[in-house]
Amino acid sequence: MALGTIFVLLSLGWNIQSVLFTFGSEQALITSHDITTTVLIWHWPFHYPLNISGDVCLDLYNIKNCRLTDNRDMLNFSDVVVFHHRELNKKGQSMPTDSRNPEQVWVWATLESPSNTKNLGKWNNTFNWTLTYREDSDIFVPYGQLVPKLHMQFNTSAKTGLLTWAVSNYHRTQERVKFFKDFSNYLNVDVYGKARNKPLCSSCLLPTISHYYFYLALENSVHKDYITEKLWKNSFLAGAVPVVLGPPRENYEKFIPADSFIHVSDFASAKDLAAFLKSMTIERYEQYFHWRQEYGIKIYNDWRERFCMICTRYPHLPKDQVYSNLEGWFTGNS
Ligand SMILES: *[C@@H]1O[C@H](CO)[C@@H](O)[C@H](O)[C@H]1NC(C)=O
Ligand SMILES: *[C@@H]1O[C@H](CO)[C@@H](O)[C@H](O)[C@H]1NC(C)=O
Ligand SMILES: *[C@@H]1O[C@H](CO)[C@@H](O)[C@H](O)[C@H]1NC(C)=O
Ligand SMILES: *[C@@H]1O[C@H](CO)[C@@H](O)[C@H](O)[C@H]1NC(C)=O
Ligand SMILES: *[C@@H]1O[C@H](CO)[C@@H](O)[C@H](O)[C@H]1NC(C)=O
Repeated sequence: MALGTIFVLLSLGWNIQSVLFTFGSEQALITSHDITTTVLIWHWPFHYPLNISGDVCLDLYNIKNCRLTDNRDMLNFSDVVVFHHRELNKKGQSMPTDSRNPEQVWVWATLESPSNTKNLGKWNNTFNWTLTYREDSDIFVPYGQLVPKLHMQFNTSAKTGLLTWAVSNYHRTQERVKFFKDFSNYLNVDVYGKARNKPLCSSCLLPTISHYYFYLALENSVHKDYITEKLWKNSFLAGAVPVVLGPPRENYEKFIPADSFIHVSDFASAKDLAAFLKSMTIERYEQYFHWRQEYGIKIYNDWRERFCMICTRYPHLPKDQVYSNLEGWFTGNS
């Protein structure tokens, strides 16, 4: 029996054990790492297609046996179909219409927090796995992570300012805006971004921040594990110490050392926080960078990498799971 035939049988939904059982004599030809997982990207996040030609997962991310496709004709030949939430709710969007193969896994993907994820209710009993920034997702895709023993050249720009914030989405109902209004009575903050008519080009952002001692890493909404590029990129990568507003300190400490950041709730009031920052000494300041002796930073910012990560997790995830109440899971009410 040719390998090609076996591949077709696998595509048709035969599981590997039954193929080995039936064609045991050819066992040596198939080991688990020979099997390619095919992931169909049903719609590109933000309608922004990326180049997935060639063996993109191997070439860019060193992930083997993983094929990404955005060709919907491949539906019946895909192990996984991944749906990005934002496009699911767009007018005129469509879901696969052929009867659904129960062996095929449907993945729900989002990087937004529950506050910015609408219309989840109608997706009960649809998705088998989740791909989000939440650590308890089936495919965990953080905005960034510390990598032990990764040596990096960090920015050591001379500091010319104390504290900065770049913000585009500024709304009075946000917790961070309430905080900022109070806090800015006690300490001057150099604010950039669309919200203040001082937009920074994307290549200007980090160099600008790198001249400040501190960065306000204020999340747009407060949710478990919702710790975004404001911490990883705008603070850690730029070399400014993050002053965070987001989930509780303990939640941050699951991912980063306790002495690498300042949490707004470390202080009884915004006034106390301002006084603390103003009285910072160089010796104290340098302690916030202890982590650099042990870790480098990895930033995740490419959807192709996140989709390739589905293949890495694929063999280890349950094949008989469905989110019967996706909204309950995501908002944490179930
Ligand atoms: C897409 O990537 C492939 C492989 O890296 C490359 O050869 C090709 O030129 C790229 N296509 C475009 C349109 O950039
Ligand atoms: C895909 O498979 C389904 C059954 O799972 C079948 O009804 C449908 O005709 C197939 N579509 C194509 C294009 O082969
Ligand atoms: C989804 O499931 C939850 C929990 O069972 C339920 O409260 C909700 O009404 C369901 N949504 C729809 C649209 O059926
Ligand atoms: C590091 O600082 C220098 C000097 O300001 C700047 O030119 C460079 O772009 C910075 N790099 C990063 C990653 O912030
Ligand atoms: C995925 O969920 C669907 C819908 O509930 C279910 O029929 C199917 O068996 C599940 N498949 C896997 C591989 O978990």
